[in-house]
Amino acid sequence: MLEYYTKYLDYNMSDKVIFSGVQPSGEIHIGNYLGAITQFVNYQADYKSIFSIVDLHAITVWQDPGALKNSTREVLAIFLASGLDESKNIIFNQSQVPEHTQLAWILSCTARVGWLNRMTQFKDKAGKNRENASIGLYTYPVLMAADILLYSASHVPVGEDQKQHLELARDIAHKFNTDYNENCFILPEPLMNKSTTRIMSLRDGSNKMSKSDISEYSRILMTDSNDQISLKIKKAKTDSLKMPDTLKGAETRLEINNLLNIYSACGLIDKEEVISKYASREISLFKKDLTEVIIKTVEPISIKTNLLLKDETYLDKVLREGASKARVIADKTIRNIYDKIGMISK
Ligand code: AMP
Ligand code: TRP
Repeated sequence: MLEYYTKYLDYNMSDKVIFSGVQPSGEIHIGNYLGAITQFVNYQADYKSIFSIVDLHAITVWQDPGALKNSTREVLAIFLASGLDESKNIIFNQSQVPEHTQLAWILSCTARVGWLNRMTQFKDKAGKNRENASIGLYTYPVLMAADILLYSASHVPVGEDQKQHLELARDIAHKFNTDYNENCFILPEPLMNKSTTRIMSLRDGSNKMSKSDISEYSRILMTDSNDQISLKIKKAKTDSLKMPDTLKGAETRLEINNLLNIYSACGLIDKEEVISKYASREISLFKKDLTEVIIKTVEPISIKTNLLLKDETYLDKVLREGASKARVIADKTIRNIYDKIGMISK
């Protein structure tokens, strides 16, 4: 164990370090899986990786306390069932590492109101009732910047919806470095997978698949049964033409294009190859095969997830151990930053 701590303590700023977070604010869907979690799994061999279940972000909108605990364990179980190795990576829930909120305060003194006013996710989530949104929802991207900068992460695998928040994290890091005339923070780069960075709703190809969509038919959950998957794909919105025979043709048809992206990502087959396999054929035939390809991806993960969820003691231990490893790094960063900004600390 000591050796492990040393490995993480010793990393220097030139090492490649990944950080990413997933909110325990609802059930994990195939958009989260293809856009983010599969990337985590693929990169874990080449990067030092830190993954956080960001419960403090989740409470920026109301969460039922019991449901939040269940969702936190469920996200962890899905991480492990998808192939993230808790002995190679640091996996923890954000609230167990208080340094995230400590750094967030400092960075909120660096970030400018004008920068936060540009964040489209706040505008979308707060909607028309902006006056009544929580302050936390507004300053959410500052906490996200703290998550990343606390660990000197060089790379952040995320879906496209987080690109603007990541640019803000870079702006905050840059301003902090300039203000204190020192390269305290490195500027993180996003990692995005072109075809899966934005998986769309199954009910409306112009909206992203989301945990908060009121229609459960808009998303496939990583814990859905085979029958549920089959029904959701059957009901998925499409036009009534035959399948496209070129990439260009596919790209003009939002819903079909999205289903082709899902097929390609789950089946690990080039999109062009999928297009030529189904060119000019009936959509119903494609949907039947797509259902099978999705089930092949989701079923083993859902079986493992359900098994893991039976052992809360084990899951809580993984989170606890992950948090104590994370704190070794986080504490070092906070001490350094406190010193740089002129705080006398222990
Ligand atoms: P969240 O559910 O907001 O915590 O998102 C967790 C991760 O999944 C983030 O990296 C998101 O960018 C990514 N993500 C969420 N929805 C989608 C989507 N529809 N397509 C691709 N990636 C997504
Ligand atoms: N805001 C991200 C989302 O909603 C979750 C998140 C919080 C995150 N902190 C992060 C992602 C740090 C990447 C890095 O999906």
